[in-house]
Amino acid sequence: MQGKKVLITGATGLVAGPVAKALAEHNEVWCLGRFSAPGSEAALRDHGITTFQWDLDNQGPTAYAGLPDDFTHVFHSAVRRGDGTDFTESIAANTTATGRLMAHCRTAEAFLFVSTGALYKRQTLDHRYRETDPIDGVADWLPTYPVGKIAAEGAVRALASVLELPTVIARLNIAYGPSGYGGVPMLYLKRMLAGEPIPVPLEGQNWCSLLYIDDLIAQVPKLFAAASTSATLVNWGGDESVGITDCVRYLEELTGVQAELVPSEITRETYQFDPALRHSLTGPCAVTWREGIRRTVAELFPEQLRESVS
Ligand SMILES: NC(=O)c1ccc[n+]([C@@H]2O[C@H](COP(=O)([O-])OP(=O)(O)OC[C@H]3O[C@@H](n4cnc5c(N)ncnc54)[C@H](OP(=O)(O)O)[C@@H]3O)[C@@H](O)[C@H]2O)c1
Repeated sequence: MQGKKVLITGATGLVAGPVAKALAEHNEVWCLGRFSAPGSEAALRDHGITTFQWDLDNQGPTAYAGLPDDFTHVFHSAVRRGDGTDFTESIAANTTATGRLMAHCRTAEAFLFVSTGALYKRQTLDHRYRETDPIDGVADWLPTYPVGKIAAEGAVRALASVLELPTVIARLNIAYGPSGYGGVPMLYLKRMLAGEPIPVPLEGQNWCSLLYIDDLIAQVPKLFAAASTSATLVNWGGDESVGITDCVRYLEELTGVQAELVPSEITRETYQFDPALRHSLTGPCAVTWREGIRRTVAELFPEQLRESVS
């Protein structure tokens, strides 16, 4: 993708930050956000990115004053996950911001909304979720999060159709890599380093479809190309199914740090995707999960990587 004018939200985050920096190499990139972390706005500007103050919670009529409206592509990744209790607030913030953003960028060639796989109705641990599977938006760990995403997907669908704005809704699995905090696998490594227990299911293990950040970046232009005014829906994960317990065991192998796995009724539930549709749109991933984990540990925790496996 070259010579385009791209608007990105959530670029201080794990996902959109690396996307923004990669696209900025050959495109004009604008990032909208609060940039609350000190230095985060300057870090984007250092890559030739233009920044613009924007708050999901403050979407009044002047929120877009002074912002150009001739963007060709929009990557909307910012999310208001909510406090876990106020559903109305979560729905209002995410839908209103998304609606205003789409209305402002109505002439774009493609709009990509980053959603989540956490909205699917839970089936067996090893079920491979497809785009047609039932959703229920139940997540005990943060109930407002999937509900806000389901609501925002509805707003996205409505505006894609009303504005005739080609759109893709990408339900993301677990993104990880050396950007930001590293993603869920690095949260497990931090627990291991702190000697904290990791709850695992009483039987079997949790499964997911880890997506390494380099593959995620490479797939963005292909997802833009798949946008449609009926809002193309796709599960966005990696090619491989990864067992969370297997992933923790591999972290042990890489670092020599032992994990305390504790069988438990309640665990951090994850989902594995059927990658067929995404594969047909983007082609295969290039980085295997073991290689991605090794690279991430090498970058973020170099002192922990055992020489024999580096
Ligand atoms: N990471 C994953 O594995 C994963 C999995 C499934 C789905 N997703 C989805 O992918 C997207 C990106 O996730 P992420 O992991 O990169 O998230 P993240 O690291 O937590 O970043 C969240 C982003 O949202 C922005 N944001 C939050 N509240 C805001 C507000 N009121 N106004 C403006 N911006 C606000 C944050 O900007 P500030 O600097 O201003 O706080 C930040 O840039 C999200 O939509 C998430 O639901 C992620």
